Parts: sequence; C-alpha cells; structure tokens
Amino acid sequence: MAENFPIPTYIVVIFIISLLISTIGNSKPWSASLSHNNRLLALDVAGKLLVDPDSLKSVSSDFGHIVKEHPKAVLCPSTTQDIVSLIKVAYNDSIPFSIAARGHGHSTRGQAMAHDGVVVDMSSLKNHRNGSRTTLEYGLAPLSFTDYLYLTVGGTLSNAGISGQTFRYGPQIANVYEMDVVTGKGELVTCSAYKSSDLFYAVLGGFGQFGIITRARIALEPAPKRVKWVRMLYSNFSTFTKDQEYLISFNGRRQNLALNYLEGSLLMDQGSPNNWRSSFFPSSDHSKIISQVTKHGIIYCLEVAKYYDDHTKNTVDKELQQLIKGLSFLPGLMFEKNVSNVEFLNRVRSGELKLQSQGLWDVPHPWLNLFVPKSRIVDFNNGVFKEIVLKRNITTGPVLVYPMNRNKWDDRMSAVIPEEDVFYAVGFLHSSGFGNWGDFEEQNKEILKFCDNAGIKIKQYLPHHATKEGWINHFGSKWKTFAERKAQFDPKMILAPGQRIFNNI
Ligand SMILES: Cc1cc2nc3c(=O)[nH]c(=O)nc-3n(C[C@H](O)[C@H](O)[C@H](O)COP(=O)(O)OP(=O)(O)OC[C@H]3O[C@@H](n4cnc5c(N)ncnc54)[C@H](O)[C@@H]3O)c2cc1C
Ligand SMILES: *[C@@H]1O[C@H](CO)[C@@H](O)[C@H](O)[C@H]1NC(C)=O
Ligand SMILES: *[C@@H]1O[C@H](CO)[C@@H](O)[C@H](O)[C@H]1NC(C)=O
Ligand SMILES: *[C@@H]1O[C@H](CO)[C@@H](O)[C@H](O)[C@H]1NC(C)=O
Ligand SMILES: *[C@@H]1O[C@H](CO)[C@@H](O)[C@H](O)[C@H]1NC(C)=O
Ligand SMILES: *[C@@H]1O[C@H](CO)[C@@H](O)[C@H](O)[C@H]1NC(C)=O
Repeated sequence: MAENFPIPTYIVVIFIISLLISTIGNSKPWSASLSHNNRLLALDVAGKLLVDPDSLKSVSSDFGHIVKEHPKAVLCPSTTQDIVSLIKVAYNDSIPFSIAARGHGHSTRGQAMAHDGVVVDMSSLKNHRNGSRTTLEYGLAPLSFTDYLYLTVGGTLSNAGISGQTFRYGPQIANVYEMDVVTGKGELVTCSAYKSSDLFYAVLGGFGQFGIITRARIALEPAPKRVKWVRMLYSNFSTFTKDQEYLISFNGRRQNLALNYLEGSLLMDQGSPNNWRSSFFPSSDHSKIISQVTKHGIIYCLEVAKYYDDHTKNTVDKELQQLIKGLSFLPGLMFEKNVSNVEFLNRVRSGELKLQSQGLWDVPHPWLNLFVPKSRIVDFNNGVFKEIVLKRNITTGPVLVYPMNRNKWDDRMSAVIPEEDVFYAVGFLHSSGFGNWGDFEEQNKEILKFCDNAGIKIKQYLPHHATKEGWINHFGSKWKTFAERKAQFDPKMILAPGQRIFNNI
C-alpha cells in the first residue's frame, strides 16, 4: 500500500465493472449447435455466445442453490458494444428473448438467471475486485462498502449495497456519481443526477429492470490504515437497540464521535460464538460467552468500528471511551481488536475460505433480509427472535440486526425502505443442507406472516415475491413510477426476468 499518498479531501474514481477480457476457454461458440437460429446467428457477437453444457450449467444456479433456470446461451462480452448488439437484436425481434446480466450470481433466488434467454456474464467482476485493491493501493477506498467484497458493483447497485457504514455514509446507491447503462432498447446512455436523471434514479435499486450497468463512478475517500473493532454483549434487547440508536445518531461525516461502522447480531446456541463472518472472540472467553447464551437463550452483540491513522492514533482510544462510557452492555463483556483496514474489510472472506475448505459454502442459502421500522423492532424481537427463531432452534448462520438513518437514502431511487426516520436491517443468513432448506422456508414464511398479522410494516431487502400483487405491495407508492420507467426503458420486458417482477404469473 502507498503509505504517503497525497490526500485530497474528495475523490472520485471510475470502476469499469463489466468488461470480460477473454472468452471462456474450451467452450463451443453459439453457431456450432444452434445454426438453425437465424436471428441469433445474425448477431455480430455470435462468436461470443456460448452454448456448451458447462457454460450453461455455470449460470443455471446461484448462491442460493434453490432455483434453477437454463438459458439458451451465455454472452461473454469483450466490450460494451457487444451488450448493445445483443439487446438490439432482442429488442428488434417480434418475440424477444430475455436477457439477464450476471455479476457473481450471489443472488439467492435466481435473480440473475434467464429461462430460455441469454445470460450476460459480467464476471469481469474480477475487475471490481482488482478495482478495490487498486484503490487501496492508492490509499483510497469507497465510502460505503458491503460486508462482503466479492460482489459486483452492478449487482449491488441493482439492490442497494448496505452494511455497517450505511447509517453514516448511506447505501452504495447513494454514493454513485455517474453510470453508463445499456437500456432495454439497446441504447447506451451516460446518466447522472444531472443528465438522463430518470434513468439514473431508476437503475439505482432497480433490480436490473431498466438497463445493464457497464460503468460506474463512485465516491472514494482516503482509506484508513487501521481499525479499532469492538463488540459488546447485551441480554436486554431494548437496551441493545437503544444503544445502537444512540450511536448512529452521530452520523455527520466529520464528527469526532461518529463511528465508521455499526452492526449487531444474535448469539444463540450454535456451538462457537464465532461465525463465518469473522472469528472475533478470543477462545479464552468462549466459555464465559456461552454461559451467558445458555442463561438467556439469546445474547445481542453490538459491533462497532472506528478508523484511525497516524494522525489520530493517540486520540482514537479516548474518543471510543467517550462514546462507550454511556452504554449499558453486560459488565465485562466488551471485546476489542486493533486490526489493519484490509483485515477488517476482508473479514467475511476469511470465513468464506474456511467454509469452502469444509465444503460448507456451496450449499442452499434460504436467506431472508428485512427492513423493520424502529417503532416495532421490540415487537419484532418478542415475536420473531424469541417466539419463532429461539423455539424452532434450527437457525444456522449469522442473524444480523442493525439500524440505519432514512435521511442517508434518496427517495428518487428505485430502492424501497420503511417510512420511518430510523429502520433496522435484519438478515437471516441461513445455510442449510440440500435436504432441509424447506425447514428454513417454513420459518421465513412464519416470520413474514407474523409481521403481517402484527401490522409491522416491513420491506424485504434483496426481495423475493411470488406474485405480482406481492411486488405491487412491495413498491407501495413507488409502483406507478417503477412500472412507468419499465415501459420507458425496457418496454419489451427483456431484462432481468429472474426477478419475476413483470413476468410473474
Ligand atoms: C456472502 C454474501 C454476502 C453479502 N453481503 C452483502 C452485504 O453486506 N450487503 C449487501 O447489500 N448485500 C450483500 N449480499 C447480497 C448481494 O448484494 C446480492 O447478492 C447482489 O445481488 C450482488 O450479487 P452479484 O454482484 O453477484 O449480483 P448477481 O446475483 O449476479 O445479480 C443480481 C441482480 O442484479 C442484476 N445485475 C447484475 N449485474 C448487473 C449490471 N451490471 N447491470 C444491471 N443489472 C445487473 C442481475 O440481473 C440480478 O437481477 C451478500 C451476498 C453474499 C452471497
Ligand atoms: C431489425 O429487423 C429488421 C427486419 O427483421 C432488419 O432488417 C434490421 O436489420 C434489424 N435491425 C437490427 C438492429 O437488428
Ligand atoms: C485481477 O484480474 C485478473 C483477471 O482480469 C486475474 O487474473 C487476477 O488474478 C486479478 N488479480 C487480483 C489481485 O485479484
Ligand atoms: C430491559 O431494559 C428496559 C430499560 O431499557 C427495562 O424497562 C426492562 O425491564 C428490561 N428488561 C428486562 C427483561 O430486564
Ligand atoms: C494497534 O496495533 C498496532 C500494530 O500492532 C500497534 O503498533 C499500535 O500501537 C496499536 N494501537 C493501539 C491504539 O492500540
Ligand atoms: C438447539 O439445538 C442444538 C443442536 O442443534 C442443541 O444442542 C440444543 O440443545 C438445542 N437447544 C434447545 C434449547 O433446544
């Protein structure tokens, strides 16, 4: 890393997010097996269309391992123009085939799939990863990260991109200056808040419905060098959330007291207090923590981080102390780490590598992610964590719960959040066996039903709705605009069919 990079106060960088350099090794091109298909053969990208079984299989499933959809072909674009050509052919056709961009396929419900259509492999996702590394080498980093970095810019901007930084810096979609987008009509448009702003706002949180993002300019800030990383344990949920809400109230960008990151999670009877997201607690403290879990059933873990560098290394401890002294965590159950920024940002990746080595990564992931309004979060704890999750006792994987500020989001964007000033992200990041993911689906359904019956106005994040009515409900007052923008930018409903928004039965 460059130690002495001259630090401007404000910097923007360009991520080229989707240009695959080479096509996949020994795969057969499209023309070899579909020579009867004139319209696709006429494509000037025909040589970059793969139809061999391995290529098709590789994009027929995703991180969720729940949905399977087979496309007709996979496009490996070398340039943005390849994507333009593909969409133009579909758009020009009387019966258009569907097209889905695929980042890393880290969706859990087939969102990046295209039944009988073409999947565009944006897997120069490697460029994104290289991009992050490169910015770090220059001493710069995005303001708003996701917990896990091996996602694509296009895939996260199609949802929101949230994490413990969101309360202060907003979601990733609130940190974009400009994008290049190929619309559902095959038009390449550069858009921003000032230029083609309708398309810009549509695409951010737009589930890939309006166009394929091929470039994004994103806000960067001088990267911190080191991180003070703290976890505090609570047995009382009201106290836990009160402290979280207090801490996120310091959310100005340059206030000394403001933290850089805040999340929270449940600790339950799942063996070790450490999970795949990070190994944090020293093993000498495990028995102490486990005895609290046994006593209370659920322990709530508040997690914060504060960045520091050479200029602030002498004050960071004092500032943290000042923040923490008013908090009500269980006495003696505060744990602190002092790590490099890279180690902090990459915390989920080390967990992934561990699970991969045990064959526990490529398994079904019946995830459920919700936004819960602050006014009902205690009811949610009583009805969901205590009554459903604790009693069913099947939950494997992290359960996250942390608040964020609505005023860091921009309502002109497609992303949908609850109507309150503060709302919580709650994530059930289950992994299951191939035979029992149905048990988690049952639990997810019960949670949604409880919220519905109790009148808790949740919104799903990374949503999945089985009916059109479900989607209309999801968007609420934004549905009309969302549907109008679809008619404007993808009138033939070619893009991102795997989301099942406009092509629901
Ligand atoms: C281990 C793990 C950790 C995660 N952590 C977080 C987290 O901390 N915060 C968070 O917000 N999310 C997180 N996610 C969820 C993640 O944001 C979603 O899976 C998201 O879809 C990004 O994944 P992807 O880049 O692989 O996109 P894909 O799954 O490939 O695609 C997602 C959707 O976006 C569309 N799309 C993809 N690329 C483009 C593009 N260039 N232009 C237009 N549309 C496109 C696809 O068609 C599809 O509909 C996590 C997921 C995993 C598996
Ligand atoms: C659209 O289709 C018409 C006739 O089917 C053809 O002449 C024209 O070249 C096509 N345009 C594109 C951009 O593919
Ligand atoms: C960068 O991307 C290239 C492919 O585009 C890949 O071969 C290489 O391993 C990546 N480097 C890093 C450091 O991730
Ligand atoms: C939790 O703390 C609140 C105050 O924040 C208190 O009113 C409540 O009684 C406590 N609950 C338990 C179970 O101790
Ligand atoms: C954090 O760790 C670094 C490297 O181990 C050490 O040099 C530094 O003094 C520590 N800083 C604080 C504030 O604890
Ligand atoms: C929950 O399940 C685990 C094993 O999956 C078991 O060890 C534990 O005793 C169960 N706890 C309760 C309260 O039933």
